[in-house]
Amino acid sequence: MTIQLKELAKTVLETEYAVRGPIVARAQELERQGKDIIYCNIGNPQALKQKPLTFIRQVLSICQYPDLMDKCPEQFPPDVIDVAKKVLDGTKHGVGAYSESKGVRLIREAVAEFIHERDGIPADPDAIYLTDGASKGVQTALRVLISGPQDGIMIPIPQYPLYSATLTLYEGKQIDYYLDENNDWKLSKEMLEVSLFEAKRFGVNVKGICVLSPGNPTGSVLDGDNISMIIDFAREHNLSILADEVYQENIYIPGNSFTSFAKVMGEKRERDVSLFSFHSCSKGFLGECGQRGGYMEIRNIPSEVVDQITKLQSISLCSNLTGQVAVYCMVRPPKPGDPSHDQYIAERDGILSELKKRALILAESLNKIPGIDCKAVAGAMYAFPKLALPPGRTDETYCMTLLEEEGICFVPGSGFGQVPGTAHFRTTILPPTDKIQSVVERLKKFHLSYK
Ligand SMILES: Cc1ncc(COP(=O)(O)O)c(C=O)c1O
Repeated sequence: MTIQLKELAKTVLETEYAVRGPIVARAQELERQGKDIIYCNIGNPQALKQKPLTFIRQVLSICQYPDLMDKCPEQFPPDVIDVAKKVLDGTKHGVGAYSESKGVRLIREAVAEFIHERDGIPADPDAIYLTDGASKGVQTALRVLISGPQDGIMIPIPQYPLYSATLTLYEGKQIDYYLDENNDWKLSKEMLEVSLFEAKRFGVNVKGICVLSPGNPTGSVLDGDNISMIIDFAREHNLSILADEVYQENIYIPGNSFTSFAKVMGEKRERDVSLFSFHSCSKGFLGECGQRGGYMEIRNIPSEVVDQITKLQSISLCSNLTGQVAVYCMVRPPKPGDPSHDQYIAERDGILSELKKRALILAESLNKIPGIDCKAVAGAMYAFPKLALPPGRTDETYCMTLLEEEGICFVPGSGFGQVPGTAHFRTTILPPTDKIQSVVERLKKFHLSYK
């Protein structure tokens, strides 16, 4: 007899991942039937026509097929060839061979240098793990922290479902802390305390807190004071911090800027709080989701625990080498004076200014629809507006009907978590500007007649 559903682990059956859930499955089915679907469900820039950066693709091409350097050197600027040679040397055997478990040392050194330059603090290549996207790093950190079903991790609500799904899978307790929608999704110490004390009251052993800045789906960006408060809170309650910083380049409101947890920890000379931070090639202006490049940096973690993390990483031998090379390109872009520099900057700025424009247009146009309330999209790649719905309707039924009638694929707010009794949807800001306008017009028509 074949394997039966009932034989699977309860944790597997209970794990949910809304951004690829039933609405997306239905969208794909409708598309196969010939319906035109606009996918606004996932932060996958190149699926929505964002062009890859030339520099990265050129370096990747040579790393995949080094003969290109002899066959058509004129196709590549000299700095690209130098970078590709350097990276290939660093891998020792090219991108077709496993690297050491943490990833190619040369690339980890480049990541450490990037953190040092970004934050003005020392960074250790041995505390850096190259991972298959940020997702694998997050999963490793959660795997290490959860030692049994009594252990819990605090996550923001709304949150990116990687966190809830992985916690379910690893049998940890999800402890929700709510972001304040009426205050631009800000996070407050009171909210953290309420959720922590509630969890403790139920006997949960709270081990860590996840923070997303800029946030998904909220886009909110934490400032240094907020981060410092979270570090103090973590120290006071013996929590490790997981800092998801994959959207660090996606900040749209003038005056806002990215501050890393590592930087604030460095400034505070914090030694007692363990930190896992994550970055990725999938977001920012690279949008290289399919290359699966990312890294995890750890701080204040005892060497015996580091060994265990390395052991976990070594079970899958190493992260994919193409993704590792993409990480190198992310952290070591062309410098002023390099032949590729001007094109790189033009492409980068073109993408970022488009995203900024779309963030603004989307929030503004959504707010013109009666019954939809959208906070400013301060960062990341999403809007998460609140919906006023007719009695008896949920955001799930709303999003499914919108898909069936208008071919627009949003994710219902329930997939990210929300204050009970409220309804939201999440849409990316990624479709080209003319498409965003058409999405909003169709949404308005649908929304006004939704019963
Ligand atoms: C907040 C957040 N963290 C992590 C990820 C995972 O990214 P990656 O492609 O690097 O695994 C995403 C993807 O959308 C995300 O939104």
